[in-house]
Amino acid sequence: MTDAVNANLADYYADDTFQRIKAFADGRETPFLVVDTGTIDRQYNELVEGFPYAKVYYAVKANPAPQILTLLRDKGANFDIASVYELERVMALGVTGDRISYGNTIKKAKDIRTFYERGVRLFATDSEADLRNIARAAPGSRVYVRILTEGTLTADWPLSRKFGCQTDMAMDLLILARDLGLVPYGVSFHVGSQQREIGAWDAALNKVKVIFERLKEEDGIELRMINMGGGFPANYLTRTNELGVYAEEIARFLREDFGDALPEIIIEPGRSLIANAGVLVSEVVLIARKSRTALHRWVFTDVGKFSGLIETLDEAIKFPIWTEKSGEGEDCVIAGPTCDSADIMYEHHKYPLPLNLAIGDRMYWLSTGAYTTTYSAIEFNGFPPLAAYYL
Ligand SMILES: Cc1ncc(COP(=O)(O)O)c(C=O)c1O
Repeated sequence: MTDAVNANLADYYADDTFQRIKAFADGRETPFLVVDTGTIDRQYNELVEGFPYAKVYYAVKANPAPQILTLLRDKGANFDIASVYELERVMALGVTGDRISYGNTIKKAKDIRTFYERGVRLFATDSEADLRNIARAAPGSRVYVRILTEGTLTADWPLSRKFGCQTDMAMDLLILARDLGLVPYGVSFHVGSQQREIGAWDAALNKVKVIFERLKEEDGIELRMINMGGGFPANYLTRTNELGVYAEEIARFLREDFGDALPEIIIEPGRSLIANAGVLVSEVVLIARKSRTALHRWVFTDVGKFSGLIETLDEAIKFPIWTEKSGEGEDCVIAGPTCDSADIMYEHHKYPLPLNLAIGDRMYWLSTGAYTTTYSAIEFNGFPPLAAYYL
């Protein structure tokens, strides 16, 4: 038993922001996500202040809602795009190809061609086959090679192994890029999403520095850009440093490695820009105990792993939860509404929800603006995709 039964709202939202979201949510049928675009606006400004030397490429996959894309378009952001579908969505809003990077290393030749035809000239790669496709389908374009980084253990949503290549391969690819008539433009990395260990950027930048120096000395290739990816934190239950601390430390790492003459620097924030702007509102469907003497309850709610909360896989992302009830708490298992036993959000990490929480009460899942709507299944068990509103 514990008294700490709710997330502390003040840790996550300004009071007026949460009240605005809640007032909008009251009376609407759950489940749904409410996103406060004013928060994204503010967080974008903070990011630009923290990284004044960097170009921002918003990772559209975090939340491709037109309201967010329009806001960021008007604020001068560029866009990191993963597919032709994202490309079309962004371009439909009038964004031109020179503000777009095709950041997915796994792509079909015909999709590369589509990007090229739409004016995109900046491509990520990490393999020879993909590089050769780029040379054929997007001749003369700028390419950057993504390297593998460490940081798996300290990122809550790691992106290791599948993406990137080792330093030796990265150098081979950049040389090949030149030989194929492309512009060997730079190096990228992603230290893992929700990366808590700032040293992960230091380690990655050290590798980048080696590539820059060796290519220049041994092959006469002068790289011009470092893409530091995403990985900057949102505010969830597991604590992280403030974004400002990341910014300060990363600036120091860059200075140590590259001095004052920095190459062009790109960052690709997703989660850190969007997550804390959203609140997912659900309702308690059922509360049960599995035996007369069971020490914890099961709380079933109308949102689950298949309707937006897939990042609770392995309980990786621990979303703060707030309810209007308070008082004594008791540890709970929290599960979704579908007939799939994988649809359990938290079982090992027991949230101490209020004992007086009842069927029909609302649960407010904080910091859920990123990677929720797009992950929602379209019809699993007949449930519709997660609804979303943008204030
Ligand atoms: C290439 C690339 N850039 C940026 C991001 C955004 O990362 P984050 O949400 O951690 O900021 C991702 C996320 O998967 C990515 O794949």
